[in-house]
Amino acid sequence: MIDIGSINEIPLGKTKRIELGQGQRVLICNVNGELFAVDDRCTHEDSSLYLGCLKGEIIHCSLHGGQFNVKTGAAVAEPAEGKLKTYRLLLQDQRIYLDLEA
Ligand code: FES
Repeated sequence: MIDIGSINEIPLGKTKRIELGQGQRVLICNVNGELFAVDDRCTHEDSSLYLGCLKGEIIHCSLHGGQFNVKTGAAVAEPAEGKLKTYRLLLQDQRIYLDLEA
């Protein structure tokens, strides 16, 4: 588990990008007070989803408009087709912990 910060750092409807090194990035998304973690890399052409827009549980890729459900990682609008990897989060004492094993 990796401590990635305070719950309060990610307001409703916003995202936070976590750099894990070696080019790996994870995006934490606040959907109506629930946090979800997905790879910060669009499966269409590797664009960062951090640059996109979160609307409800759907993140819109800024490059070509592909969309993903951040709860499941499923691609829900073309040209995105491949599923995003999702990660388990543990919340404890107002801190967010990312589980890279799951
Ligand atoms: S890079 Fe995201 S839809 Fe093309």
